[in-house]
Amino acid sequence: MDNKDTYLLNFKGYNFESSFVDADFLEYLDDFEIRDDDVFIITFPKSGTTWTQQILSLIYFEGHRNRTEDLATLDRVPFFEYKIRKTDFLNRPSPRLFCSHLPYYLVPKGLKNKKAKIIYVYRNPKDVMTSFFHFSNVVVRLEPGNDMEHFMKRFLDGNVVGSRWFDHIRGWYEHRHDFSILFMMYEEMKKDLRSSVLKISRFLEKELSEEDVEAIVKQATFQNMKSDPRANYDEILKYEFGKRTDEGHFLRKGTVGDWKHHLTVEQNERFDKIFQRNMKDLPLKFIWDLN
Ligand code: A3P
Repeated sequence: MDNKDTYLLNFKGYNFESSFVDADFLEYLDDFEIRDDDVFIITFPKSGTTWTQQILSLIYFEGHRNRTEDLATLDRVPFFEYKIRKTDFLNRPSPRLFCSHLPYYLVPKGLKNKKAKIIYVYRNPKDVMTSFFHFSNVVVRLEPGNDMEHFMKRFLDGNVVGSRWFDHIRGWYEHRHDFSILFMMYEEMKKDLRSSVLKISRFLEKELSEEDVEAIVKQATFQNMKSDPRANYDEILKYEFGKRTDEGHFLRKGTVGDWKHHLTVEQNERFDKIFQRNMKDLPLKFIWDLN
């Protein structure tokens, strides 16, 4: 275990945010007992975790769909490796829903029995980097992004929470046959939320009525989540993560292609070269812009 910076904790070659992890739990990740009906959302940070937490929580909990239960999305779908709320995982009723940023090689080995399900959400890395840059300038627990040039170097070198984006996605993709896993793309979710909800619910073998699907799609839109205190993370950001100023939200823009407003032509070309070099043999499709 190695502390590169105070806010990063490196464990087995992967960078965790240091203040929310429990070192003993990391040592025990491999042996954490998985139940057949556990569901994990796995993402690289800033790729649509919160959004997918909301979708999953709406699929599973009627009280969330009809707004009769007042429980934050994060409590319905807690982080696995980050003890933000100190949820007692062992006594949680099934089905347990989790979200995580772990790389494939650190997840509990019980996931390899292929019964428990994983939804891996990925997003084009220029937008991931842009979102991460803004987030780092808002959250006290992260090193500020400073300017984009500085942040881009850190992001591409993997000196951020989650380590190298390229390694995360490649690892999960190349080991996909070891798991029961569905790959979802942020941009496809943005293009067609309804089809994405149906795809996720089919994968989870959850039957939903037409009315349920309507309710899920409606409450999982960016606008609705932003105005819903259970889903927008505003309180969590303020009280648990800590903000540098009053500015900034977890749900910032929620668009595709915002990187165009933040990268210079030269930075974009440099990014493209690095992307090509790292991704050329990976058949995953990416969408960089919706227009
Ligand atoms: P932006 O910073 O580009 O706005 P994560 O939850 O993995 O940290 O990802 C956060 C990103 O997902 C933010 O991106 C946030 O706005 C976006 N997001 C959250 N909910 C969304 C929704 N319902 N629709 C589209 N984007 C959403």
